[in-house]
Amino acid sequence: MTDRFVVLTGASGGIGKCLAKRLIAQHYRVLGIARDASRLQAVADELGENFEPCAFDVSDRVAWQALASRLSAAGQAVDMLICGAGVLPPFAAASTVSSAAVEQTLRINFLSAVYAIEALKAPLLAAAKPVVAVIASAGGIAPLIGTSAYAASKAAMIAYFSALREEWRGRVQVTLLCPGFVKTDIFRSQPHVAGSEKLLNAIAADADRIARGMLQAIRCGRGYKVLGVDGHLLSIGMRLCPTLTLRLCRYIIKASNLPLFADIWAD
Ligand SMILES: NC(=O)c1ccc[n+]([C@@H]2O[C@H](COP(=O)([O-])OP(=O)(O)OC[C@H]3O[C@@H](n4cnc5c(N)ncnc54)[C@H](OP(=O)(O)O)[C@@H]3O)[C@@H](O)[C@H]2O)c1
Repeated sequence: MTDRFVVLTGASGGIGKCLAKRLIAQHYRVLGIARDASRLQAVADELGENFEPCAFDVSDRVAWQALASRLSAAGQAVDMLICGAGVLPPFAAASTVSSAAVEQTLRINFLSAVYAIEALKAPLLAAAKPVVAVIASAGGIAPLIGTSAYAASKAAMIAYFSALREEWRGRVQVTLLCPGFVKTDIFRSQPHVAGSEKLLNAIAADADRIARGMLQAIRCGRGYKVLGVDGHLLSIGMRLCPTLTLRLCRYIIKASNLPLFADIWAD
């Protein structure tokens, strides 16, 4: 049963590592992608021979083409592509974030998934029941203050893969996954995270529970799945009353007075 092959980005930590663990327990072979080769190797040491580490930067289109050539030379079909790699830039006022920083976030969080689709379309279509799953975010549904580049990258992902889902209906299952806050290392790049861990831990969901929900949604053939209590609240709020929802979030973020959000008011 280990003939089902998954390409998983963001496999070295957080939600991606939990997904890799669960997929291997379900007898998949996982090709796990991230930049840090030593962290990937540590995952390979832990998960065994059905996890193949493959270190490259997902925002590098040429690296995706190289992977596609390698898979094609080996005659390897791709049963599942999960695009989970992503970064959360420091919370900051939109007008203080450089266009170069916005471009970089879009390349890592959104365009990387487009490069993956472009490169892996043929090996995906060669699989019996191909699946593409992408980890967007509730932040792409509700663009909170201080997260302009991140929210834009995730909103782009939601729009692009919603269109692709309908275009590929009946050929490739496309599943959009939108979690709320999850306990992972994604907050490590935040300059003022110290002192905010209590709040993050209180609102963030367990990464393995979220990974389980994601795999359930994929298994059930869902096209779109919001995960986590905060994710659902944001999603409902944005459907019923988007302006008020974002204003309420602004009020809560301001009233929290946390150093984590200090740079949002720097403009
Ligand atoms: N945690 C949350 O609250 C949350 C909420 C909603 C959505 N998400 C989304 O869930 C996904 C996983 O996030 P996480 O919370 O598990 O974060 P994480 O623990 O920081 O893991 C991110 C993974 O992506 C990889 N990665 C980052 N940039 C990369 C690049 N340029 N090329 C290749 N790999 C790269 C990282 O490895 P390297 O650094 O070694 O490259 C790591 O394996 C992301 O797309 C994130 O936006 C997270």
